[in-house]
Amino acid sequence: KTCILIGAPIDSGQRRPGCLMGPAAYRVAGLGRALTDLGHAVEDRGDVAPGPLPAVAAPDPRLHALPETIGWTIALKEAVEDALGRGFPIVMGGDHSLALGTVAGAAAHAAAVGRPLFLLWLDAHSDFHTLQTTTSGNLHGVPVAYAAGRDGFDGFPPFPAPLPPERICLFGIRSVDPEEHAALLLHDISIIDMRVIDEFGICAPMREFLEKVRAANGMLHVSLDVDFVDPAHAPAVGTTVPGGATVREAHLVMELLHESGLVTSLDLVELNPFLDERGRTARLMVELAASIMGRKVFDRPTRGFG
Ligand code: ARG
Ligand code: MN
Ligand code: MN
Ligand code: MN
Repeated sequence: KTCILIGAPIDSGQRRPGCLMGPAAYRVAGLGRALTDLGHAVEDRGDVAPGPLPAVAAPDPRLHALPETIGWTIALKEAVEDALGRGFPIVMGGDHSLALGTVAGAAAHAAAVGRPLFLLWLDAHSDFHTLQTTTSGNLHGVPVAYAAGRDGFDGFPPFPAPLPPERICLFGIRSVDPEEHAALLLHDISIIDMRVIDEFGICAPMREFLEKVRAANGMLHVSLDVDFVDPAHAPAVGTTVPGGATVREAHLVMELLHESGLVTSLDLVELNPFLDERGRTARLMVELAASIMGRKVFDRPTRGFG
């Protein structure tokens, strides 16, 4: 594959500074090298610059940095749509508000080539607020609702070809605000929360979702939030929630995704290098990215123990 690395040093989706150092940390931790070692061609197109600040009429003061985030959304949509025409985009964030743009870019590309886009959200959080329901005002908590075409995104460009709920899977979640919970009950989004994973394991629910993607000849955008992984292993994130995926579970998810051959674009989000411990979270994220791009311990047939 031709991997196109896109730096997205976006910090405006929440209030704790540091995510803007994410792209630099991924480069220092050797993301490009890990991919070339796997035999991929790698093009680092550098960091995206946010678009010009749009004039937003009377923005709700409870919303943190709305014009900045809209500017990033427009710029990242373009970057991902363009990259999908040439290769496999890997977006190095940046906080999760970057997915407002990246999923929009993937959706625009999928619509242009006439294939359905699916979205896998690997996260502790459901990120299903709208601008009206968010209680924190942090726009990293809204991108799934935008992709699902919910109302309440005044000031944003309309989402191109919104995803029907059955094409969205929230995986690993364990923190849902009351307003998100109420809205999720009205949408038929597949919710693989930690309760489901504890009971059935990682594999069965993941395979079920991947079969849906395959049956529809879909494209698949994967958005990996650092807090999908337990904070014991991945401390460099502003929104830690205990009870997350282990390193082993996270790798297994990545391996299943690789074996499916279905993934067409990837976000790496919410890494805050300022909160890291000697680079361990950045390195873990690079390892997970390598797994989703094909690294394995042993190359053997997927089932059986031989
Ligand atoms: N639901 C909370 C909020 O809206 C947390 C969102 C966390 N999102 C994230 N991408 N880390 O503020
Ligand atoms: Mn998130
Ligand atoms: Mn999260
Ligand atoms: Mn909230």
